[in-house]
Amino acid sequence: MRDVQHPLLFECAWEVANKVGGIHTVLKTKVPVTVKEYGSRYYLMGPLNHKSYRVEVEEIDIKNAIIKEAIEDMRRQGIHVVHGRWLIEGAPNVILFDLGSAYYKINEWKKDLWECAGIPTPDSDIEMNDTVLLGYMIQWFLTLVSGKTDKAIVAHFHEWQAGLAAGLIKKKKIDVATIFTTHATLLGRYLCAGNCDFYNNINYFNIDEEAGKRGIYHRYCVERAAAHCADIFTTVSDITAYEAEHLLKRRPDGVLPNGLNVTKFSAMHEFQNLHKKNKMKIHDFVRGHFYGHMNFDLDNTLYFFTAGRYEFINKGIDMYIESLGELNKRLIACNSPVTVVAFIITQAKCRSYTVETLKGQALVKQLKETVSEISKKIGEKIFEHSYRGDVDNMEKIMDNEDIILLKRRILSLKRESLPPIVTHEMEDDARDPVLNKLREVQLFNNSSDRVKVVFHPQFVNDSNPILGMDYENFVRGTNLGVFPSYYEPWGYTPAECTVMGVPSVTTNLSGFGCFIEDSVVKPEDYGIYLVDRRLKSPRESVDQMAEYMFNFCRKTKRQRTNMRNRTERLSDILDWKRMGVEYVKARLCALRSKFPESFGADETEYIVDPTTGKLSRPLSIINTPTETSTPHTPDAFEKEYNGYAEWLKYKTRIGLPADFYFKKGSTAEKEYFD
Ligand code: UDP
Ligand code: GLC
Repeated sequence: MRDVQHPLLFECAWEVANKVGGIHTVLKTKVPVTVKEYGSRYYLMGPLNHKSYRVEVEEIDIKNAIIKEAIEDMRRQGIHVVHGRWLIEGAPNVILFDLGSAYYKINEWKKDLWECAGIPTPDSDIEMNDTVLLGYMIQWFLTLVSGKTDKAIVAHFHEWQAGLAAGLIKKKKIDVATIFTTHATLLGRYLCAGNCDFYNNINYFNIDEEAGKRGIYHRYCVERAAAHCADIFTTVSDITAYEAEHLLKRRPDGVLPNGLNVTKFSAMHEFQNLHKKNKMKIHDFVRGHFYGHMNFDLDNTLYFFTAGRYEFINKGIDMYIESLGELNKRLIACNSPVTVVAFIITQAKCRSYTVETLKGQALVKQLKETVSEISKKIGEKIFEHSYRGDVDNMEKIMDNEDIILLKRRILSLKRESLPPIVTHEMEDDARDPVLNKLREVQLFNNSSDRVKVVFHPQFVNDSNPILGMDYENFVRGTNLGVFPSYYEPWGYTPAECTVMGVPSVTTNLSGFGCFIEDSVVKPEDYGIYLVDRRLKSPRESVDQMAEYMFNFCRKTKRQRTNMRNRTERLSDILDWKRMGVEYVKARLCALRSKFPESFGADETEYIVDPTTGKLSRPLSIINTPTETSTPHTPDAFEKEYNGYAEWLKYKTRIGLPADFYFKKGSTAEKEYFD
């Protein structure tokens, strides 16, 4: 019997103290609620990133004797393990494994993986080698820990790269309850990026063949094994649950939607002030970027942006640019006084900033400095003249040399060429998808254009020499975030906009979009615009998006301010304090599933069939997995599952609340089960 009242929790992911994308945001923002629940029984584990760990983690002595012993055991075998606190809110324990230090074992482990699971590991795939190293190290560590404690252990794995250990734990019969959460499927991401009609064909893909064609069959095996071997398998949204069911062949046991650590500002207007302050900073950048072509009024300028990893189709950057082209035409046609500066922030292959970009900022800085020096001198002179009552000579207040200097500055701000559409030297300018799309829709920053574009092919941060803002402050300064993703299991970027009170565009193909659609009667009222990419043709979706943006441009300043207030009010539904409950349920289910003998008898006798409203047959007599020796294996699961009602019975039996998977009445439930 294990102590299930005080379990140890190990959460494992590639992005622990290591920022790549949204999984890092999940882990980092969720820490405070998890620490509150588990305290020092909570550990995050991942690979040691030599570049970042010294600033992310404070190494400390290990207090827990069992953890200490396990780590020391591994260290004695040459494994470099860092133990410390992650320097973020909540300061959780972290254990980071140096993959290089275990490299001497790689062949042994690859052989074992082939023998115990039939998973191949081509030498050329470095990422796969790292996955093997991490998976085996975590399994090794958890084996040591579970042998030394009578506490129940829950190990929660995120994404395939950390998921290998879930399979190993099952195969090697280690006494640890496991959860595997996938934040996407490998194949889903690849197929969508290849511009295919993914959602209409999801039933028909020959999965092994598709994975093989893309050279990711072995990775796919790891992902599928993790999904099937974990006691509890979850995804981050209904739409990814649907995808996983088809591509990984196991219907997830639950959905764990992503939350955020919502900071409420003491005064309601605080985030509005931050918007104003940061918008001024973006104005400074825009002045530099558009020098010589500043024929638009900054007071009547709106900042739109999209940001994210460079997945041109998946992140909907293609659709964003097309809609901007459309918006430009509409604003010109109605002679709108509004100008939109649309940013595209991503990580494309590029070198440094272009000379032109740096020059623009330098010229404006020089002008600012010159004006400020001259103003200071003028101020002193006015004071001197006024003090002496010398009103007659006031017109000579500006020296000739100052006038000449100012004229020089003004002349240097003239330029023949148009303001650039990209801020950096691209590695492959001619074949870059963003640049080509901008060329196709002819957004070149012409004076007559009402939509101007700035492609910033690197993420922003506060040490950035031209924008000098971190991502959060940049977002705060903008007016609208645009994220028209085609493939987006969740999509933190519009969610982050929401908690900062910045309206955004998302789609009904993103996990976040669907979540909002299910939770809010009319998301538009709250400044969340959902583009229909499910039932509309791409052309129709572009039109719908252009219409949203056009209507947004027609709002008055006051209307936009009110909208920001309403947007920000949605924060509560995204708070981990609320969302975190699903994680609590998942852990409970994993514990019940792995250690049924440590819980009391299952009292549930029936459930209400949602389709007929009738009570089911007594659960104790139907042929359910409880009558088998290993009730929750995927095989038993597959036999068990036969439609929604059966599914609910299964969930009830293992203690999963009925709404843990698709919420009753949700779009997903209606679509997938009707
Ligand atoms: N992000 C960032 N800087 C940027 C753009 C994005 O730090 O310039 C962060 C953003 O705050 C978000 C994450 O990257 O938390 C992206 O997560 P998302 O779930 O939207 O997409 P993923 O990259 O995981 O597919
Ligand atoms: C993945 C998905 C993204 C999601 C993130 C966190 O990287 O691409 O949509 O928000 O994981 O779950």
